[in-house]
Amino acid sequence: MAKAKNGITMTMGPKESAQRFKELDEYIQGAAAAFPGDRQGALMGVLHKVQSVFGYIPREAMDFVSRKLSVPTAHIYGMATFYNFFSLKPKPRFKICTCKGTACYVGGGARILEKLKAELGLEEGGVTADGMFGLEITRCLGCCGLSPVMQVNEDIYVRMVPEKVPGILNKYRKLDKKQVKSPE
Ligand code: FES
Repeated sequence: MAKAKNGITMTMGPKESAQRFKELDEYIQGAAAAFPGDRQGALMGVLHKVQSVFGYIPREAMDFVSRKLSVPTAHIYGMATFYNFFSLKPKPRFKICTCKGTACYVGGGARILEKLKAELGLEEGGVTADGMFGLEITRCLGCCGLSPVMQVNEDIYVRMVPEKVPGILNKYRKLDKKQVKSPE
């Protein structure tokens, strides 16, 4: 796992990273040929390719595109932040939100958050190295009467206790394995 200059973590090993950059390089060559003398025209498609290859737009990929297309990284950064379909942060496959609203706090929500942090080795806002889980905080999930509450993607878990956390995480680990195995 490599750490980019801007603090964003690349979540893949060197071999996988090299493969993805190779795929990107091939795409850039094709895009440059399709838009001779029009780097701006090529750039949008290239950024979409970066997003699809890496799942987000890492700083390393911006520098790579900058070198290949002779476009300043600052310009690429400007485009990547202007359009909201691009993301500069890796998106987890399972986004966990724990509630820090008053009802959940009173009901023991802090213990759920601590258990999640310990199980995942993450702080708030973090994403696991394999990109599987992300940990976020929310202020209310709209079911205060059933507090404490946490959410994983679209699934809501109510009356949470720390002991339920490992089983819930395992459920998504199994689901993830199934999704990886099954063809699209
Ligand atoms: S305070 Fe947690 S669901 Fe409302």
